[in-house]
Amino acid sequence: MSSSRSCFASLAISLVVFMAMVARVPVEGARAFFVFGDSLVDNGNNNYLVTTARADSPPYGIDYPTHRPTGRFSNGYNIPDIISQKLGAEATLPYLSPQLTGEKLLVGANFASAGIGILNDTGIQFANVIRISQQMEFFQEYQQRVGAVVGEEQAQKLVNKALVLITLGGNDFVNNYFLAPITARRLQYNIQDFSHYLIVEYRKILKRLYKLGARRVLVTGSGPLGCVPSQLATTSANGPMRGGASKRCSDIQPPSYSNDSRTKSRAWIRHIYCC
Ligand SMILES: *[C@@H]1O[C@H](CO)[C@@H](O)[C@H](O)[C@H]1NC(C)=O
Ligand SMILES: *[C@@H]1O[C@H](CO)[C@@H](O)[C@H](O)[C@H]1NC(C)=O
Repeated sequence: MSSSRSCFASLAISLVVFMAMVARVPVEGARAFFVFGDSLVDNGNNNYLVTTARADSPPYGIDYPTHRPTGRFSNGYNIPDIISQKLGAEATLPYLSPQLTGEKLLVGANFASAGIGILNDTGIQFANVIRISQQMEFFQEYQQRVGAVVGEEQAQKLVNKALVLITLGGNDFVNNYFLAPITARRLQYNIQDFSHYLIVEYRKILKRLYKLGARRVLVTGSGPLGCVPSQLATTSANGPMRGGASKRCSDIQPPSYSNDSRTKSRAWIRHIYCC
């Protein structure tokens, strides 16, 4: 029993050494990077899906080294790219990329999918996107795949030591609650109760991430949502969708909403920022 164990251990060790040599990424001490969330951090998963939430045509990517659309919702690099650069690592591949095999798995993976939110009903208009619970299931599947390459114990270590980024929540406002003057969520909740509900659900997501082995997790807040290009275009009083050229950030709330609820929405955003 113990000899078969040590035999297995030495096999695992040689595999690790072999992988480290092949990958030129030593498993010990290397820091993998995992990304979860929405369009702010999606780096190409939606290119593999039948969805309208996609960034596969110009001008996306015009400032990227290839000057081509990459699936990132950005003119160039996005936040995960910049974090990878700071880690001294190559960019993580989208989880759905067929290139994500073998040594590439050790770099980490990006599970994010544009259009999704904290809630399952956020982004239903985009049809086939990877909801956050599915991203977690993929994370579990990823761990099995890495385990098959470097052994279960090393896979666990890699995940525990990794840096994790999760960016969620903006779509629950702009692509759910405020999507139309009347939405199911607006009938159900005032903004304060909706924000509270989001926090309750977000907490469950973060706990699940912890259970799956994530230990160093960057949780970002929602930015000023009225400054998001899509919101600038569609809701700015004198914006491009209304024949104007205004680049002023709009308030994501329709004029019928009171100042009071606006303040509460901002308070929620600050809350997520700090906690
Ligand atoms: C969202 O869907 C997942 C998977 O079906 C489920 O586990 C989860 O409880 C749902 N979340 C909510 C808030 O309904
Ligand atoms: C609040 O609403 C009033 C009336 O619509 C408006 O004049 C005022 O500028 C608003 N205040 C803020 C802080 O948005």
